[in-house]
Amino acid sequence: MLNWASLFGDFDKRLWLNTADQGPMPLCAGIAAIKALEWKIYPGRLSTTEYQAVPVRLRQLLRLLIGATNGQIVLGNSTTYGLSIIARALAWRSEDQVLLVEGDFPANFTPWQGAAQPIQTQLIPSRLWSEDPAGALRASLRRETRIFCASWVDSFTGRVLDLRDLGNICRGNGTFFVVNASQGLGNRCFVAGGLPIDALTCSGSKWLCGPYGTGFCWIGEEMSASMLPIQYYWQANRDERTLSSTSSSGLGADNASYDVFATANFLNYVPWMIAIECLLEAGIESISKHIDAWVLAFKDGFDTTHYEIVSTQGGIERSALIFVNHKEPMRNDSIHQNLRSVGIDVALRRGKIRISPHFFNPLESVSLVLDSLRSARSVM
Ligand SMILES: Cc1ncc(COP(=O)(O)O)c(C=O)c1O
Repeated sequence: MLNWASLFGDFDKRLWLNTADQGPMPLCAGIAAIKALEWKIYPGRLSTTEYQAVPVRLRQLLRLLIGATNGQIVLGNSTTYGLSIIARALAWRSEDQVLLVEGDFPANFTPWQGAAQPIQTQLIPSRLWSEDPAGALRASLRRETRIFCASWVDSFTGRVLDLRDLGNICRGNGTFFVVNASQGLGNRCFVAGGLPIDALTCSGSKWLCGPYGTGFCWIGEEMSASMLPIQYYWQANRDERTLSSTSSSGLGADNASYDVFATANFLNYVPWMIAIECLLEAGIESISKHIDAWVLAFKDGFDTTHYEIVSTQGGIERSALIFVNHKEPMRNDSIHQNLRSVGIDVALRRGKIRISPHFFNPLESVSLVLDSLRSARSVM
């Protein structure tokens, strides 16, 4: 196995354990970003071929990443972009409702609730959801539930959903299952076609290690067939030949028609492509195994006298997001500050310490975090 840490910067000699917030770009992606910037400073260095290849190549890489087929990827700039496209383009019926999970990440709520004609939403109570997601979903689905939208990996608990189980329940009710994969894609294996889900949306700037302002969406055939052509970007799927043609049309039928405008956005997309290539080269399965080993080593050496791990620790529900609570939770804030002061960057989310290791965090860094937590246990 390659020394994956060497693919990244040294994080100013700090430990970056906060990919759930901001995934760092590998150095090769940083170099690509500088080259892309040069293209803008010296436009003569950018060939039309390179420029036009940007959305084409990015789409190919994303297809490879999630095992999608041609025509299903929408290039975007965030998680929200994909949800917002679905909210705007689905051929809604007046009785339709969207089912959401209480306490889920805000991005899952705003696209429906903030639409020009808000779509009725319904909530699965968080208490029921945390006890038994499948049971809670079954109990909440109605005839009117057109979409069920949830996060694959929960940003505030680290819990991983069983997409197959929940997807099958949705299928049984004729409900589309829309998955927010921002905290899972890049750290867990995923094959779009093999699962009973209808759409997936994901940020590029977390586990996919791209620049901020990147993201994409995958929309399966059945859902796509229920969507209206609300927009079209002139450059989607065009090449030099169609650009030179005098026909002003060129509208295509696939999901590229929902792309964010300016898809040859080379300043952002070129470094993102290189970051995705880097992940694919490392292998998502190997990355996932590495993260799992990190999380298990953390759990094994954990100081249970003063702290508790509140994220799921076993089975398929364990993710790359570890949530730690001091047994006197009011200390969490100071402990978080203290970790930062000794060079360990983690997050504080809903009052708990969130540690999110990626493939560049070596296994040896586990003991450093455990020791620092032990030393910080009495800070106030
Ligand atoms: C589950 C989840 N979805 C979405 C986002 C961010 O949304 P967007 O990419 O639309 O800014 C985050 C950020 O933390 C997240 O954790």
